Amino acid sequence: MSNKVLVTGGTGYIGSHTVVELQNNGFEVVIIDNLSNSNKDVLERIQKITGKRPIFENFDLCDAKKTNDFFKKHADIKAVIHFAAYKAVGESVLKPLKYYHNNLVSLVNLLQAMQENNVSNFVFSSSCTVYGQPDELPVTEQSPIKEANSPYGDTKQISERIIRDTTRANKSFKAIALRYFNPIGAHESALIGELPLGVPNNLIPLITQTTIGVRKQLSVFGDDYNTPDGTCIRDYIHVVDLAKAHIIAIKRLLHNGKRNYEYFNIGTGRGNSVLEVINTFEKVSEQKLNYKIANRREGDVEQVFADTKYANSELGWKAEKTLDDALLSAWNWEKYYKKNLYNK
Ligand code: UD1
Repeated sequence: MSNKVLVTGGTGYIGSHTVVELQNNGFEVVIIDNLSNSNKDVLERIQKITGKRPIFENFDLCDAKKTNDFFKKHADIKAVIHFAAYKAVGESVLKPLKYYHNNLVSLVNLLQAMQENNVSNFVFSSSCTVYGQPDELPVTEQSPIKEANSPYGDTKQISERIIRDTTRANKSFKAIALRYFNPIGAHESALIGELPLGVPNNLIPLITQTTIGVRKQLSVFGDDYNTPDGTCIRDYIHVVDLAKAHIIAIKRLLHNGKRNYEYFNIGTGRGNSVLEVINTFEKVSEQKLNYKIANRREGDVEQVFADTKYANSELGWKAEKTLDDALLSAWNWEKYYKKNLYNK
Protein backbone atom coordinates (compact mmCIF):
# COMPACT_ATOMS: atom_id res chain seq x y z
CA MET A 1 0.00 0.00 0.00
CA SER A 2 1.22 3.49 -0.78
CA ASN A 3 2.48 5.66 2.05
CA LYS A 4 3.13 8.70 -0.08
CA VAL A 5 2.94 12.08 1.65
CA LEU A 6 2.78 15.43 -0.11
CA VAL A 7 4.81 18.13 1.64
CA THR A 8 4.07 21.63 0.34
CA GLY A 9 6.88 24.05 1.08
CA GLY A 10 9.12 21.01 1.49
CA THR A 11 12.33 22.80 0.48
CA GLY A 12 11.80 25.45 3.17
CA TYR A 13 13.09 25.55 6.72
CA ILE A 14 10.59 23.43 8.67
CA GLY A 15 9.52 21.56 5.52
CA SER A 16 13.01 20.22 4.76
CA HIS A 17 13.52 18.95 8.31
CA THR A 18 10.12 17.26 8.19
CA VAL A 19 10.91 15.60 4.84
CA VAL A 20 14.04 14.10 6.44
CA GLU A 21 12.02 12.69 9.35
CA LEU A 22 9.33 11.35 7.02
CA GLN A 23 11.89 9.55 4.87
CA ASN A 24 13.64 8.21 7.97
CA ASN A 25 10.26 6.79 8.99
CA GLY A 26 9.78 5.00 5.68
CA PHE A 27 7.36 7.46 4.05
CA GLU A 28 7.67 8.29 0.39
CA VAL A 29 7.71 12.06 -0.08
CA VAL A 30 6.62 14.36 -2.87
CA ILE A 31 7.41 18.05 -2.48
CA ILE A 32 5.60 20.96 -4.08
CA ASP A 33 7.48 24.26 -3.73
CA ASN A 34 7.68 27.34 -5.93
CA LEU A 35 11.14 28.17 -4.48
CA SER A 36 9.98 31.68 -3.58
CA ASN A 37 11.92 31.49 -0.32
CA SER A 38 14.09 28.40 -0.69
CA ASN A 39 16.63 26.75 -2.92
CA LYS A 40 16.58 23.53 -4.93
CA ASP A 41 20.01 22.53 -3.51
CA VAL A 42 18.12 21.42 -0.43
CA LEU A 43 17.02 18.30 -2.33
CA GLU A 44 20.62 17.09 -2.66
CA ARG A 45 21.25 17.81 0.99
CA ILE A 46 18.18 15.84 2.03
CA GLN A 47 19.49 13.01 -0.13
CA LYS A 48 22.87 13.20 1.63
CA ILE A 49 21.16 12.79 4.99
CA THR A 50 18.57 10.12 4.15
CA GLY A 51 20.01 8.44 1.05
CA LYS A 52 16.85 9.30 -0.86
CA ARG A 53 15.91 12.23 -3.05
CA PRO A 54 12.29 13.27 -2.65
CA ILE A 55 10.16 13.74 -5.77
CA PHE A 56 9.96 17.47 -6.51
CA GLU A 57 7.40 19.57 -8.39
CA ASN A 58 7.99 23.29 -8.84
CA PHE A 59 4.75 25.25 -9.08
CA ASP A 60 2.56 27.70 -7.22
CA LEU A 61 -0.43 26.34 -5.29
CA CYS A 62 -2.31 29.53 -6.15
CA ASP A 63 -2.74 27.89 -9.58
CA ALA A 64 -5.87 25.78 -9.05
CA LYS A 65 -5.55 23.81 -12.28
CA LYS A 66 -1.95 22.82 -11.66
CA THR A 67 -2.84 21.83 -8.12
CA ASN A 68 -5.68 19.62 -9.29
CA ASP A 69 -3.59 18.11 -12.11
CA PHE A 70 -0.90 17.29 -9.59
CA PHE A 71 -3.27 15.07 -7.60
CA LYS A 72 -4.43 13.34 -10.78
CA LYS A 73 -0.79 12.59 -11.61
CA HIS A 74 0.05 11.38 -8.07
CA ALA A 75 -3.14 9.44 -7.45
CA ASP A 76 -1.62 7.42 -4.58
CA ILE A 77 -1.02 10.30 -2.17
CA LYS A 78 -2.36 9.40 1.27
CA ALA A 79 -1.76 12.60 3.25
CA VAL A 80 -0.68 16.22 2.91
CA ILE A 81 1.45 18.42 5.17
CA HIS A 82 0.96 22.03 4.21
CA PHE A 83 3.86 24.37 5.02
CA ALA A 84 3.91 26.55 1.91
CA ALA A 85 3.09 30.11 3.01
CA TYR A 86 4.60 33.52 3.51
CA LYS A 87 5.74 34.11 7.09
CA ALA A 88 7.33 37.53 7.57
CA VAL A 89 5.24 39.37 10.14
CA GLY A 90 6.54 42.87 9.29
CA GLU A 91 6.14 42.43 5.55
CA SER A 92 2.57 41.23 6.06
CA VAL A 93 1.72 44.57 7.68
CA LEU A 94 3.09 46.44 4.65
CA LYS A 95 1.66 44.07 2.02
CA PRO A 96 -1.46 42.50 3.51
CA LEU A 97 -3.01 41.52 0.17
CA LYS A 98 0.11 39.63 -0.82
CA TYR A 99 -0.28 37.59 2.37
CA TYR A 100 -4.05 37.07 2.20
CA HIS A 101 -3.82 36.07 -1.44
CA ASN A 102 -0.91 33.68 -1.19
CA ASN A 103 -1.67 32.03 2.15
CA LEU A 104 -5.43 31.67 1.68
CA VAL A 105 -5.85 31.01 -2.05
CA SER A 106 -3.22 28.27 -1.94
CA LEU A 107 -4.95 26.64 1.05
CA VAL A 108 -8.38 26.69 -0.58
CA ASN A 109 -6.98 25.30 -3.85
CA LEU A 110 -5.21 22.55 -2.00
CA LEU A 111 -8.28 21.54 0.04
CA GLN A 112 -10.49 21.58 -3.05
CA ALA A 113 -8.06 19.46 -5.03
CA MET A 114 -7.72 17.02 -2.12
CA GLN A 115 -11.50 16.62 -1.87
CA GLU A 116 -11.89 16.20 -5.59
CA ASN A 117 -9.24 13.49 -5.60
CA ASN A 118 -10.33 11.76 -2.38
CA VAL A 119 -7.27 12.58 -0.30
CA SER A 120 -8.54 13.09 3.22
CA ASN A 121 -5.63 13.52 5.67
CA PHE A 122 -4.26 17.00 6.26
CA VAL A 123 -1.66 18.48 8.62
CA PHE A 124 -1.52 22.26 8.79
CA SER A 125 1.41 24.45 9.77
CA SER A 126 -0.17 26.88 12.24
CA SER A 127 1.39 29.16 14.79
CA CYS A 128 1.18 30.46 18.35
CA THR A 129 0.49 33.77 16.65
CA VAL A 130 -3.20 32.71 16.66
CA TYR A 131 -3.29 33.47 20.42
CA GLY A 132 -2.11 37.10 20.12
CA GLN A 133 -0.98 38.26 23.61
CA PRO A 134 -2.63 35.67 25.85
CA ASP A 135 -4.12 36.74 29.19
CA GLU A 136 -2.73 33.70 30.96
CA LEU A 137 0.53 31.82 30.59
CA PRO A 138 1.40 29.17 29.67
CA VAL A 139 -1.09 29.23 26.84
CA THR A 140 -3.29 26.15 26.36
CA GLU A 141 -5.24 25.03 23.32
CA GLN A 142 -8.36 26.24 25.14
CA SER A 143 -7.06 29.81 25.52
CA PRO A 144 -9.24 32.24 23.61
CA ILE A 145 -8.21 33.17 20.10
CA LYS A 146 -7.76 36.94 20.31
CA GLU A 147 -7.35 39.46 17.58
CA ALA A 148 -4.20 38.69 15.58
CA ASN A 149 -1.27 41.11 15.74
CA SER A 150 -0.62 41.12 11.99
CA PRO A 151 -2.11 40.09 8.63
CA TYR A 152 0.27 37.11 8.79
CA GLY A 153 -1.37 36.11 12.08
CA ASP A 154 -4.79 36.67 10.54
CA THR A 155 -3.98 34.29 7.71
CA LYS A 156 -3.18 31.58 10.27
CA GLN A 157 -6.43 32.22 12.17
CA ILE A 158 -8.51 32.25 9.01
CA SER A 159 -6.75 29.16 7.67
CA GLU A 160 -7.61 27.25 10.85
CA ARG A 161 -11.28 28.27 10.43
CA ILE A 162 -11.29 27.20 6.79
CA ILE A 163 -9.90 23.81 7.78
CA ARG A 164 -12.30 23.41 10.72
CA ASP A 165 -15.31 24.22 8.54
CA THR A 166 -14.12 21.81 5.87
CA THR A 167 -13.90 18.99 8.41
CA ARG A 168 -17.36 19.88 9.77
CA ALA A 169 -18.92 19.73 6.34
CA ASN A 170 -17.11 16.57 5.28
CA LYS A 171 -16.84 14.07 8.12
CA SER A 172 -14.42 11.82 6.27
CA PHE A 173 -11.92 14.67 5.91
CA LYS A 174 -9.44 14.68 8.81
CA ALA A 175 -7.10 17.47 9.81
CA ILE A 176 -4.61 18.36 12.52
CA ALA A 177 -3.30 21.91 13.00
CA LEU A 178 0.05 22.19 14.77
CA ARG A 179 0.54 25.54 16.47
CA TYR A 180 4.28 26.06 16.49
CA PHE A 181 5.95 28.33 18.98
CA ASN A 182 9.40 29.66 17.86
CA PRO A 183 11.21 27.07 15.73
CA ILE A 184 15.00 27.39 15.82
CA GLY A 185 18.12 25.33 15.19
CA ALA A 186 19.17 23.01 12.40
CA HIS A 187 19.70 19.36 11.58
CA GLU A 188 22.69 17.84 13.42
CA SER A 189 24.41 17.12 10.07
CA ALA A 190 24.50 20.91 9.44
CA LEU A 191 23.38 20.09 5.88
CA ILE A 192 19.99 21.77 6.23
CA GLY A 193 18.89 24.72 8.33
CA GLU A 194 17.16 28.07 8.20
CA LEU A 195 18.18 29.90 5.05
CA PRO A 196 16.62 33.35 5.05
CA LEU A 197 16.89 35.14 1.72
CA GLY A 198 17.91 38.77 2.29
CA VAL A 199 17.87 40.29 5.76
CA PRO A 200 16.41 37.82 8.25
CA ASN A 201 13.49 38.79 10.49
CA ASN A 202 13.96 36.22 13.16
CA LEU A 203 16.22 36.35 16.18
CA ILE A 204 18.43 33.30 15.74
CA PRO A 205 19.61 33.87 12.14
CA LEU A 206 20.28 37.48 13.11
CA ILE A 207 22.39 36.32 16.07
CA THR A 208 24.41 33.81 14.03
CA GLN A 209 24.89 36.18 11.08
CA THR A 210 26.06 38.98 13.39
CA THR A 211 28.47 36.67 15.14
CA ILE A 212 29.98 35.41 11.89
CA GLY A 213 30.35 38.97 10.60
CA VAL A 214 27.63 39.25 7.95
CA ARG A 215 25.94 41.94 10.09
CA LYS A 216 27.47 44.52 12.39
CA GLN A 217 25.26 44.46 15.44
CA LEU A 218 22.10 42.87 16.79
CA SER A 219 19.39 45.11 18.22
CA VAL A 220 17.51 43.72 21.20
CA PHE A 221 14.00 45.05 20.72
CA GLY A 222 13.11 46.55 24.09
CA ASP A 223 14.30 45.92 27.66
CA ASP A 224 11.39 47.62 29.40
CA TYR A 225 8.83 44.83 29.17
CA ASN A 226 7.17 43.44 32.26
CA THR A 227 9.46 40.39 32.39
CA PRO A 228 12.30 39.50 34.83
CA ASP A 229 15.08 41.02 32.65
CA GLY A 230 12.83 43.36 30.68
CA THR A 231 13.17 41.56 27.31
CA CYS A 232 10.47 39.56 25.53
CA ILE A 233 9.91 35.91 26.31
CA ARG A 234 9.30 33.15 23.76
CA ASP A 235 9.16 29.37 23.65
CA TYR A 236 12.05 28.33 21.39
CA ILE A 237 11.67 24.82 20.01
CA HIS A 238 14.29 22.82 18.12
CA VAL A 239 13.16 22.34 14.53
CA VAL A 240 13.95 18.61 14.62
CA ASP A 241 11.64 18.11 17.63
CA LEU A 242 9.03 20.07 15.72
CA ALA A 243 9.54 17.98 12.57
CA LYS A 244 9.00 14.82 14.62
CA ALA A 245 5.60 16.07 15.78
CA HIS A 246 4.49 15.99 12.13
CA ILE A 247 5.31 12.30 11.81
CA ILE A 248 3.16 11.55 14.84
CA ALA A 249 0.35 13.70 13.43
CA ILE A 250 0.48 11.89 10.09
CA LYS A 251 0.42 8.47 11.74
CA ARG A 252 -2.48 9.57 13.94
CA LEU A 253 -4.48 10.66 10.90
CA LEU A 254 -3.71 7.49 8.97
CA HIS A 255 -4.40 5.10 11.85
CA ASN A 256 -6.41 6.29 14.79
CA GLY A 257 -7.48 9.94 14.68
CA LYS A 258 -9.95 10.61 17.49
CA ARG A 259 -11.87 13.53 16.06
CA ASN A 260 -11.71 14.75 12.53
CA TYR A 261 -10.28 18.15 13.50
CA GLU A 262 -7.68 18.61 16.22
CA TYR A 263 -5.09 21.23 17.10
CA PHE A 264 -2.06 21.11 19.35
CA ASN A 265 0.55 23.42 20.84
CA ILE A 266 4.01 22.42 19.70
CA GLY A 267 6.53 24.04 22.00
CA THR A 268 8.84 23.15 24.86
CA GLY A 269 6.74 24.62 27.65
CA ARG A 270 9.67 26.83 28.65
CA GLY A 271 9.90 30.57 28.14
CA ASN A 272 13.26 32.23 27.52
CA SER A 273 14.00 35.92 27.26
CA VAL A 274 15.99 37.47 24.43
CA LEU A 275 18.90 38.11 26.81
CA GLU A 276 18.81 34.50 28.01
CA VAL A 277 19.00 33.35 24.40
CA ILE A 278 21.97 35.63 23.76
CA ASN A 279 23.80 34.47 26.90
CA THR A 280 23.19 30.82 26.06
CA PHE A 281 24.36 31.39 22.50
CA GLU A 282 27.57 33.01 23.70
CA LYS A 283 28.19 30.09 26.05
CA VAL A 284 27.64 27.25 23.55
CA SER A 285 29.36 28.95 20.62
CA GLU A 286 32.22 30.36 22.72
CA GLN A 287 31.78 33.61 20.81
CA LYS A 288 30.96 37.15 21.81
CA LEU A 289 27.89 38.73 20.23
CA ASN A 290 27.88 42.43 19.44
CA TYR A 291 24.45 43.68 20.52
CA LYS A 292 22.74 46.78 21.85
CA ILE A 293 19.41 47.50 23.47
CA ALA A 294 17.06 49.22 21.02
CA ASN A 295 13.44 50.35 20.96
CA ARG A 296 10.58 47.90 21.05
CA ARG A 297 9.56 46.39 17.70
CA GLU A 298 6.01 47.17 16.70
CA GLY A 299 3.69 44.19 16.88
CA ASP A 300 5.78 42.13 19.31
CA VAL A 301 3.89 40.39 22.08
CA GLU A 302 5.52 40.62 25.52
CA GLN A 303 5.58 36.95 26.31
CA VAL A 304 4.20 33.68 25.08
CA PHE A 305 5.05 30.09 25.89
CA ALA A 306 3.18 26.84 25.53
CA ASP A 307 1.33 24.56 27.83
CA THR A 308 2.27 21.30 26.12
CA LYS A 309 0.36 18.87 28.36
CA TYR A 310 -2.27 18.14 25.72
CA ALA A 311 0.30 17.39 23.01
CA ASN A 312 2.33 15.33 25.49
CA SER A 313 -0.59 13.17 26.57
CA GLU A 314 -2.62 12.95 23.35
CA LEU A 315 0.19 12.70 20.82
CA GLY A 316 2.78 11.11 23.08
CA TRP A 317 5.10 13.82 21.80
CA LYS A 318 7.53 15.88 23.85
CA ALA A 319 10.32 18.25 22.90
CA GLU A 320 13.57 16.48 23.74
CA LYS A 321 16.28 18.92 22.80
CA THR A 322 17.44 21.84 24.92
CA LEU A 323 18.00 25.49 24.10
CA ASP A 324 21.76 24.76 24.22
CA ASP A 325 21.35 21.99 21.59
CA ALA A 326 19.27 24.23 19.35
CA LEU A 327 21.60 27.22 19.49
CA LEU A 328 24.71 25.12 18.94
CA SER A 329 23.12 23.46 15.90
CA ALA A 330 22.15 26.89 14.52
CA TRP A 331 25.73 28.06 14.96
CA ASN A 332 27.16 24.93 13.29
CA TRP A 333 24.78 25.44 10.37
CA GLU A 334 25.83 29.08 10.01
CA LYS A 335 29.50 28.08 9.93
CA TYR A 336 28.86 25.30 7.41
CA TYR A 337 26.73 27.45 5.18
CA LYS A 338 29.18 30.35 5.21
CA LYS A 339 32.03 27.98 4.33
CA ASN A 340 30.04 26.67 1.38
CA LEU A 341 29.31 30.17 0.15
CA TYR A 342 33.02 30.92 0.07
CA ASN A 343 33.70 27.69 -1.79
CA LYS A 344 31.37 28.62 -4.62
C1 UD1 B 1 6.92 35.68 14.81
C2 UD1 B 1 5.52 35.15 14.94
C3 UD1 B 1 5.48 33.67 14.67
C4 UD1 B 1 6.04 33.41 13.32
C5 UD1 B 1 7.44 33.94 13.23
C6 UD1 B 1 7.87 33.75 11.79
C7 UD1 B 1 4.10 36.33 16.47
C8 UD1 B 1 3.69 36.49 17.89
N1 UD1 B 1 5.03 35.40 16.28
O1 UD1 B 1 7.68 35.20 15.90
O2 UD1 B 1 4.17 33.22 14.69
O3 UD1 B 1 6.03 32.04 13.07
O4 UD1 B 1 7.48 35.32 13.58
O5 UD1 B 1 8.70 34.71 11.30
O6 UD1 B 1 3.61 36.96 15.57
N2 UD1 B 1 14.21 40.10 18.45
C9 UD1 B 1 15.17 41.03 18.81
N3 UD1 B 1 16.00 41.51 17.83
C10 UD1 B 1 15.92 41.11 16.53
C11 UD1 B 1 14.93 40.16 16.16
C12 UD1 B 1 14.08 39.67 17.15
O7 UD1 B 1 15.28 41.43 19.96
O8 UD1 B 1 16.70 41.62 15.70
C13 UD1 B 1 13.32 39.55 19.49
C14 UD1 B 1 11.85 39.88 19.24
O9 UD1 B 1 11.49 41.07 19.81
C15 UD1 B 1 11.20 38.66 19.92
C16 UD1 B 1 12.22 37.53 19.79
O10 UD1 B 1 13.44 38.17 19.46
O11 UD1 B 1 11.03 38.92 21.28
C17 UD1 B 1 11.86 36.54 18.71
O12 UD1 B 1 11.57 37.25 17.50
P1 UD1 B 1 11.37 36.51 16.10
O13 UD1 B 1 12.44 35.48 15.94
O14 UD1 B 1 11.23 37.54 15.06
O15 UD1 B 1 10.03 35.68 16.28
P2 UD1 B 1 8.57 36.16 16.77
O16 UD1 B 1 8.34 37.56 16.44
O17 UD1 B 1 8.45 35.72 18.19
